[in-house]
Amino acid sequence: MSVLIKNGRIITADSDQTADIFISGETVQAIGKNLNVQSDKEIDATGLLIFPGGIDPHVHLDMPFMGTFSSDSYETGTRAALYGGTTMVLDFILQKQGNSLQDALQEWKSRSDNNCVGDYSFHMAVTDFNEETKKEIKHFIEEEGITSFKTFMAYKGALMIDDRQMIGLMEEVKKHGGLINVHATNGDMIDYLIAKHKEEGKLSPLYHYLSQPEITEAEASERFIDMASYTGCPGYIVHLTCEGALNAVRNATKRNQKIFVETCIQYLILDASLYERDFEGAKWVMSPPLREKKDQQTLWAGINQGLVQVVATDHCPFMWEQKLLGKNDFSKIPNGHPAIENRMELLFSEGVEKNKITLNKFVEVTSTNAAKIFGMFPKKGTIAVGSDADIVLFNPNEKHVLSASTHHMNVDYSGYEGWEVTGKVKTVLLRGKIAIDNNECKVEKGFGKFVKRNKVASIV
Ligand code: URP
Ligand code: ZN
Ligand code: ZN
Repeated sequence: MSVLIKNGRIITADSDQTADIFISGETVQAIGKNLNVQSDKEIDATGLLIFPGGIDPHVHLDMPFMGTFSSDSYETGTRAALYGGTTMVLDFILQKQGNSLQDALQEWKSRSDNNCVGDYSFHMAVTDFNEETKKEIKHFIEEEGITSFKTFMAYKGALMIDDRQMIGLMEEVKKHGGLINVHATNGDMIDYLIAKHKEEGKLSPLYHYLSQPEITEAEASERFIDMASYTGCPGYIVHLTCEGALNAVRNATKRNQKIFVETCIQYLILDASLYERDFEGAKWVMSPPLREKKDQQTLWAGINQGLVQVVATDHCPFMWEQKLLGKNDFSKIPNGHPAIENRMELLFSEGVEKNKITLNKFVEVTSTNAAKIFGMFPKKGTIAVGSDADIVLFNPNEKHVLSASTHHMNVDYSGYEGWEVTGKVKTVLLRGKIAIDNNECKVEKGFGKFVKRNKVASIV
């Protein structure tokens, strides 16, 4: 099958040109003006923007968490991602404390194998670093193509590791060419505040927010950065939300240290005033919580300063019935919110359309940087001859309204209900095949491939 996309405005991280793209099989074969080639299908992209397929490096599909499972399966989650222009996701495997990393991989494969509609990979969350786990790291990097290792500095008793384990893991991961990503919040301090609020009878979602003040994130981020500096291990902070944490990253640059930073779309455009809506605030109970307006300004500036390289989602949806598990106790509300389908359109509308970021920056933070940092570039993350033909055709002028009644995520509410966005994903190609066209998904579960990744970048 070959496809010729004619006359679109092709945006990559470092170029902007109106040209044709010729695709044959799974990859891009030629890019140029007025290409004179025969194709099985021709698409007229006049007036449309063309982006590399989005990569969301932070999603949780069908994940056991807080006594339940996130509500999107690998099928529904990756399909919803495609509708929103995201052709690849990176999901998290969670090691069970006491068990091996290999056990965890097998468990996650049993849910994901042959079930994905879009392409995917995994980070491996190490929740129990010991002499046995240590022996598995090299195998994961060199044989499994899983080159990034997630750590939690919070969720004590289930996921959190201590600093001793963190240092040991960093040394091993560095030795074999991997990267550590981190949920950087101070778990002990948060647990203390949760217990204190509960003793005082303060049980509404607002106290989820008040149990995780900015300092808990700033402190842990700085500690993580110091450990990464000491060990020399490449580090990536996931879902960074606030000024204090970003200043820790900024300070590290003064000693020539590079730390990769991801924020998520919700932290750029929503704020903590949503927790004042009584139990409705549970829709936005996530960790870290939404922050203040001044933090949003910091994050937009951080993107333009090159301190924040990635805008992800931390997509971790729960049905309203699941959120109700915490009706009388905020600490039992499953943490997470849905956004996998909305990320690209929201960032375009709130970022590019409102002149906060350029088109090239949009591509960098939604696709290219993730591909580079996580060892997939230039196969993924750009539009170039030889790259996978993961391509989004986007109408920058079409307005539409986000709603649970029209989204494709398996969750019965939207964190963005009624939000009007400017810009709409029209057609999506995944490895040369038309995956989304005219609001219809054309590929089945099983089409999504597991992508083996290379050793990771330490500088982007
Ligand atoms: O609230 C969140 N973020 N849920 C998913 C787990 C995590 O911490 O990333
Ligand atoms: Zn997290
Ligand atoms: Zn997460």
